[in-house]
Amino acid sequence: MPTELNQKIYVAGHRGMVGSAIVRNLQAKGFTNIVTCTHAQLDLTNQAAVQAFFEKERPDQVYLAAAKVGGIYANNTFPAEFIYQNLMMEANVIHQAFLSGVKKLLFLGSSCIYPKLAPQPMSEDALLTGKLEPTNEPYAVAKIAGIKMCESYNRQYGQSHGVDYRSVMPTNLYGPGDNYHPENSHVIPALIRRFHEAKVANASEVIIWGTGTPRREFLYVDDMAAASVFVMELDKATYDSQTEPMQGHINVGFGSDVTIKELAHAVAKATGYQGSISFDPSKPDGTPRKWMDSSRLNNLGWNAQVGLEQGLALAYRGMLMELT
Ligand SMILES: NC(=O)c1ccc[n+]([C@@H]2O[C@H](COP(=O)([O-])OP(=O)(O)OC[C@H]3O[C@@H](n4cnc5c(N)ncnc54)[C@H](OP(=O)(O)O)[C@@H]3O)[C@@H](O)[C@H]2O)c1
Repeated sequence: MPTELNQKIYVAGHRGMVGSAIVRNLQAKGFTNIVTCTHAQLDLTNQAAVQAFFEKERPDQVYLAAAKVGGIYANNTFPAEFIYQNLMMEANVIHQAFLSGVKKLLFLGSSCIYPKLAPQPMSEDALLTGKLEPTNEPYAVAKIAGIKMCESYNRQYGQSHGVDYRSVMPTNLYGPGDNYHPENSHVIPALIRRFHEAKVANASEVIIWGTGTPRREFLYVDDMAAASVFVMELDKATYDSQTEPMQGHINVGFGSDVTIKELAHAVAKATGYQGSISFDPSKPDGTPRKWMDSSRLNNLGWNAQVGLEQGLALAYRGMLMELT
């Protein structure tokens, strides 16, 4: 049964890139009772504070889009913070949601849950079949724990309490609200920033690390939000038809990938940079290819809507608005 528009929905992490897109999507659908709380008001790693929040608010549904998120540098430098904070947020929110009677919850993970050498495209059943990428292993282990928490609560309390906790694993996301920090951002915001700065400085050349040949998949964040609400709204029998009790997560990808070279040219076009683009093959490339098998989600009837060119233009506009 679709969720009634006056049901109380808690979006954890509503100021983040994904959480804010989920709020936009829910509002556009007409949901009128969305509860949010900033990090300053509610530290989700604090068990007592999370318990008090759930006892007071008693939401009907939860989207768990709060997390400690970062790039390779941050993950490598602060591994203890990444594993501790993410485990605590998940444990607190999922358990207190259960204790306060929440029947439906959606947990957001990440494609880094899959083994470093998983066959491409990465399907849901690649989970726990091999070693993780070492740089973000602590973060990935916390995300795997979140999936397993949802599955375990379903298995133990599904029948008795009607618990139905689901997980979605997004590919690389980009869009409004992204992090444009010079040292700590993902590839798309980093490239947008570099090409924007090169355009403003009238630079004649931008040099990108590596050969430009690795392939990556990118999804516009409003598509991710749409997929999240779509998965939350699926009736249980349909969700169960594409998942298993101990493999309850669903990949959310764009469906195809691009080379870094293609991406760089697309970002240059979106930002209006006119100079040349070259590559420095002496710098590391990373994994040759990383893309998700999204056939489960596609079989359920969802496909991405926003192509890379359109998405980059929207993302660039978002960054310019943040700058002003
Ligand atoms: N961005 C991507 O490319 C990507 C890709 C795959 C998966 N995901 C997943 O999507 C989810 C959301 O990512 P995002 O990109 O939206 O991240 P984000 O922009 O950094 O947002 C995360 C939000 O969580 C909040 N938060 C962090 N620690 C908190 C705490 N202890 N208590 C309360 N709130 C806290 C942050 O608040 P403050 O900023 O105030 O700390 C922020 O609003 C994550 O689970 C991530 O793994 C993202």
